[in-house]
Amino acid sequence: MKEILIAGGRLRLRRANLDDLNYIMTLQYAPENLKFIVPFDEDYHREIFTCADKTDIIVEEIDTGQAVGYFMLRELDSPCAEFTHVIIDKKGVGYGREALKLLMKWTFEVKKFHRIWIDCKDYNYVALRLYESLGFVREGVLREIIFTDGVWENLIVLGILDREYYLHRWTTANGIQWSVGSDEWSV
Ligand SMILES: CC(C)(COP(=O)(O)OP(=O)(O)OC[C@H]1O[C@@H](n2cnc3c(N)ncnc32)[C@H](O)[C@@H]1OP(=O)(O)O)[C@@H](O)C(=O)NCCC(=O)NCCS
Repeated sequence: MKEILIAGGRLRLRRANLDDLNYIMTLQYAPENLKFIVPFDEDYHREIFTCADKTDIIVEEIDTGQAVGYFMLRELDSPCAEFTHVIIDKKGVGYGREALKLLMKWTFEVKKFHRIWIDCKDYNYVALRLYESLGFVREGVLREIIFTDGVWENLIVLGILDREYYLHRWTTANGIQWSVGSDEWSV
């Protein structure tokens, strides 16, 4: 039986199970995703299905039941969870934004986490812009932390606190725009 975590307009999030393993591995190793993530092997994902501190989550279309992406979350046994993998298979139709909003709603409003953080390659402009537009703040740079195909790469660490999430949700619901990358509020 499917464990639905949260549902929105077009999408729902459900906890992944062993039947989703091939889908998760395929998404990780698809070239358009692999260049932006660090993949985990099958054994690691199998272990996730038995752990309380990590979870894989499938993003599904409500109308079709089709999987359109997946998230991996870690550090769920602490007040500060990590969004370790964010991958949307059906790109460019707004699913990334919608699914992340659902995931943030679930983590902050249902599970009551204090803080969510994420790291992102410094040239992944689409993801960085998306995270910042959802209220994540750049907290620092891990310089030359991963070695990919002979190149040392930097990771940007982004985080959002529970009170920032609620403030961001309230301001966007009330038509107040947050200027990304500055401390200015504009209406
Ligand atoms: C990053 C990712 C999750 C975004 O999901 P998505 O469903 O494609 O994104 P959306 O359709 O919701 O679009 C989100 C925003 O990015 C913009 N965008 C999406 N694709 C874009 C592209 N190729 N070029 C420029 N902007 C783009 C959209 O216009 C939208 O901006 P807006 O809401 O201000 O109009 C997805 O592209 C992905 O899985 N990428 C590969 C893996 C990855 O990079 N994961 C993140 C690792 S930290």
